[in-house]
Amino acid sequence: MDRFVVGPSGPLSGSVTINGAKNSVLKCMAASLLAPGRHRIGNVPAITDVTIMADLLAALGPVASHHGKGSDGWLEIDVPDGIQPIAPYELVERIRASIVVLGPLLARAGHAVISLPGGDDFGGRPIDMHLGAFEKMGVEFTTEHGNVAGRCDRLMGAKVVLEFPSHTATDNVLMAATLAKGTTVIENAAREPEVADLADMLTSMGARIEGAGTSHIEVEGVDSLEPADHRCIPDRVETATFLAAVGLAGGEVLLRDARAEHMDMLLQKLAAMGVHCVPNADGLLASATGHLESVDVSTLPYPGVATDYKPFVVTLLAVADGVAVVSENVFAGRFRYVDELRRMGARITTEGHHAVIRGVPRLSGAPVKATDIRAGAALVLAGMVADGTTEVSGSDHVDRGYEDLAGRLRAIGADVDRSGAAESPAGAASDG
Ligand code: EPU
Repeated sequence: MDRFVVGPSGPLSGSVTINGAKNSVLKCMAASLLAPGRHRIGNVPAITDVTIMADLLAALGPVASHHGKGSDGWLEIDVPDGIQPIAPYELVERIRASIVVLGPLLARAGHAVISLPGGDDFGGRPIDMHLGAFEKMGVEFTTEHGNVAGRCDRLMGAKVVLEFPSHTATDNVLMAATLAKGTTVIENAAREPEVADLADMLTSMGARIEGAGTSHIEVEGVDSLEPADHRCIPDRVETATFLAAVGLAGGEVLLRDARAEHMDMLLQKLAAMGVHCVPNADGLLASATGHLESVDVSTLPYPGVATDYKPFVVTLLAVADGVAVVSENVFAGRFRYVDELRRMGARITTEGHHAVIRGVPRLSGAPVKATDIRAGAALVLAGMVADGTTEVSGSDHVDRGYEDLAGRLRAIGADVDRSGAAESPAGAASDG
């Protein structure tokens, strides 16, 4: 079986280039549905989620081809005049982010059928906020045979107040609103940098958007949009992954293209733990001695510490001096990987959405299993501060969000390898 094989590592040195943000690329791919013609999206990593989203687009009509690798990777997407607004179960089930095609399909075709996404390893992933927002915009939904079908004459601009600043609900409404009749206001919008990036692409297509990246977004609908040529921002979660690697193993590594301004709160927490980051013209210079201090951390929507960073934070705290409390405020069930860290000797107890972590000097290598993209990457990092060998199975989860994680960690001096099949096909459902 394909797995990561990790040995004690560090100190790390050299540089690594941070690839384009998965959670921006996937939305930009969906945004291409809004305008017929040839789109070009740059900074697209070769990750499984991009392949699955391309398969989903193909089922709807557009043909996407991926070229190059890493930060030189790009996508060409040819969108036909007519699209087939039916997102089939087999594809929706493989990638949770598929829900973001709903807005563009309703905007382009006036109707859409999408299979209801299931839950995943860190809890249910409801779409009530997406549907409620589209209802405000004039869509009527029916649910039959596991599919939700929406229909409207033309989307109407509306005031949408999100109950929680949901990232993908904001993306979905933003995209739909670009072609709606009149003005749409999104209150309590998600403020993630990837939302602002999506808005940049939509603006280059001719959309009229104010306030993306803040909690109040206004969109004045237009009649049609043009194809885009857009380069996506670097991935802040991948940046956090490499920062945690440096924090655990010690050393000094340049994270090329990383953007400190997208992750201020995490950088403050990391500094308090003993991981230092200095922005420079090339990216972010990270350094650490390998000695870490405990700090309490709570996850929150952006600009708070993202839930996606939490597996890395918990892994750092597992080998830090002292005791820390980590509280999860976004996905209540996102602590499953803690059982795997415990198998490696971490002293962590969980109660509801809180974890108490008592740092130990080192972990102990063991066979462990990735349960989602970020948890899998965190277990690979944990192996770097564990005595003996750590084998992380479920590597297909990691491939959904990281291009060649083992090779890039190895390039900065970590003892991380892959064994078994080289590239894993899409298997379990994606958590992204
Ligand atoms: N929620 C609802 N109803 C909805 C939508 C969301 O109750 O209609 C709840 C969720 O259950 C959750 C909270 O709102 O408790 C926040 O969820 P959100 O909608 O913001 O998450 P998401 O948009 O589904 C994106 C990322 C996740 C990331 C979260 C939080 C994508 C494709 N996924 O998910 O990324 O964890 O925002 O920042 O953008 C990953 O990359 O590995 C990943 C899981």
